[in-house]
Amino acid sequence: MNKTVIGVLASGRGSNLQAIVDAIEAGRLNAKIGAVISDNPEANVLKRMTAADIPTLCIDRRQFVSRHEFEAAVAEELNIRHVELVVLAGFMRILTAYFIDRFAGKIMNIHPALLPAFPGENAQQQAVDYGAKVSGCTVHFVDEGMDTGPIILQEAVPVLEDDTAETLSDRILHAEHILYPRALALYCEGRLKVEGRRVRIIETE
Ligand code: GAR
Repeated sequence: MNKTVIGVLASGRGSNLQAIVDAIEAGRLNAKIGAVISDNPEANVLKRMTAADIPTLCIDRRQFVSRHEFEAAVAEELNIRHVELVVLAGFMRILTAYFIDRFAGKIMNIHPALLPAFPGENAQQQAVDYGAKVSGCTVHFVDEGMDTGPIILQEAVPVLEDDTAETLSDRILHAEHILYPRALALYCEGRLKVEGRRVRIIETE
């Protein structure tokens, strides 16, 4: 089967992207990274991927007068590289309807909580502050809402009595690194079927 070309948008550390790269190298994910784009020139993800010989690109939001122009530039780079699936991996910008329409049904995100609980920023702090006993992570398709798109996979993680946002984040991150490559592999194998809000996983024989 052909490899799916993925384009990754990331703003920071890049540990989820590293897990994706590792899954590709281990043969667990039949994909090829067409581009890694960061909106932040200082992002560690750029250094990390350049060291790993993965094509990286910085598109600095500050160079554009509007969100629309910024997103058009990102979309253009993804199209030039024939990207088939856009993967948000710690991308800290909200995408507008314009970008989401251009890649309709072809954008995935990972969020560090069990959606629909604790959407938006600082999800781990929200879980600690709320006194939740369980949190986790969610991989979902992106729609126009804030972390509201159809859910693909979720993994629960306990919230311990002494947890801070940092200790809970570490525990969730460990689960993220397993969950995201698994969700991507399902997509690349053509095993995800979206029916309204529900994402069905097609069994293999
Ligand atoms: C991850 O915990 C991811 O779930 C979160 O940012 C972190 C990125 O880490 N994403 C969001 O909060 C998106 N709303 P990484 O750069 O090491 O992959």
